[in-house]
Amino acid sequence: MRISVIGCGYLGAVHAACMAELGHDVIGIDIDEHKIAQLAAGRAPFFEPGLPEVLERGMASGRLRFTTDISEASGSAVHFVAVGTPQIPGSDAADLRYVDASFSALLEHLSDGDLVVGKSTVPVGTAARLAELVENTGASLAWNPEFLREGFAVGDTLTPDRLVYGVRAGDDAAVAALDEVYAAAIAAGTPRLVTDYATAELVKVAANAFLATKISFINAMAEVAEATGADVTQLADAIGHDARIGRRFLNAGVGFGGGCLPKDIRGFMARADELGVGESLSFLRDVDAINLRRRERVVQLAIEELGGDVEGKRIAVLGLAFKPDSDDVRDSPALDIAARLRGLGALVSVTDPEAIETSRRVHPELNYVGSAEEAAADADAVLLLTEWRQFRELDPEAFGAGVGSRVIIDGRNVLDATRWRAAGWTYRGLGRP
Ligand code: UDX
Repeated sequence: MRISVIGCGYLGAVHAACMAELGHDVIGIDIDEHKIAQLAAGRAPFFEPGLPEVLERGMASGRLRFTTDISEASGSAVHFVAVGTPQIPGSDAADLRYVDASFSALLEHLSDGDLVVGKSTVPVGTAARLAELVENTGASLAWNPEFLREGFAVGDTLTPDRLVYGVRAGDDAAVAALDEVYAAAIAAGTPRLVTDYATAELVKVAANAFLATKISFINAMAEVAEATGADVTQLADAIGHDARIGRRFLNAGVGFGGGCLPKDIRGFMARADELGVGESLSFLRDVDAINLRRRERVVQLAIEELGGDVEGKRIAVLGLAFKPDSDDVRDSPALDIAARLRGLGALVSVTDPEAIETSRRVHPELNYVGSAEEAAADADAVLLLTEWRQFRELDPEAFGAGVGSRVIIDGRNVLDATRWRAAGWTYRGLGRP
């Protein structure tokens, strides 16, 4: 199929490359010239495992091209809109300016019978509003949320765990076109749910709200554990054995960040307020607050371990990305904590396998170094804040040789406390004695 993908960020670039991988003829479109130049040269503009390989194969096959010229969308049968919907500064609501701009630019290049497919995460009601504009051109609209996780984006796109199509009632042509796009996943038995626009839009934010709630639930238990001497990691293991609860997404630590969970729960609350059902989602306010409190807790632990004041103290921060296998620092707890400690006068040396450049753009004041050992040289305390494999596998004995004092705060509860203590470290986890 001929497919256009408008927006080549984390979502769109991966989607475009994966659609070409599936055999479609794809044009990726973005207004960012630098990004398009990189993609057109076959380079991924951000770190995502597996993306360079699919990009390379797509470019070599001749089925994948990139441009800044939206008129090149014409001739495609299906047009995916995958632009960002960030949080409006100073508000909880999602900023729809990129979605609106993409649709208005795309409209004049649509032909009768084309299908426009929204993938961006939008406030419920957006698709119904945009459908009218699209239908005036003779094209139709579907909303097809994605659930890809950074770090696993290629796999999640090629083999999704479910497909959700929000379509106008009775729009069989839209369903047939999407079935053709996702023929490989459908042949593999992937569950496919056909529904209305509002449900499709809500599926996405509901899923993210649930995941955020699950993480904040266990982080709330961590707070209680801290007040009682209990161990939240053992608590999570024990409740996780109940299949109704499940152990995944029950890792207590510095909390969630990234380009989706934080802004999606806030945008969802803002939209619910507009719809007069704000009370139904008021618990998400607590979910957000619990999450943010964990960052402060780490700062307080550092102050405590450093004798009541971090000013002038050397602190090593291992990990800056909001999670491992990503260079994304949007709303990253790790980077936030590093910057807060720096703000309190600490001498903060930070490192991350992939996220140094993205971090430096936001917080140039931190001291960026290339390895955990360099960061920890002469440090008064070490903070592990993103659980990259290379940090999880640090040897407490060898690593301890270079530090000023053996104090570690494990912000992700991924280290073996017994082993680190045996090597002479003061070990502090979150929600652990
Ligand atoms: C998320 C959703 O998982 C995905 O389905 C959606 O499409 C986009 O948002 P992503 O932002 O890539 O994906 O990250 P995810 O793996 O969900 O992790 C989110 C955050 O939660 C990370 O900061 C992670 O460190 C944190 N987290 C996750 C925890 O603190 N504890 C856990 O148990 C799990």
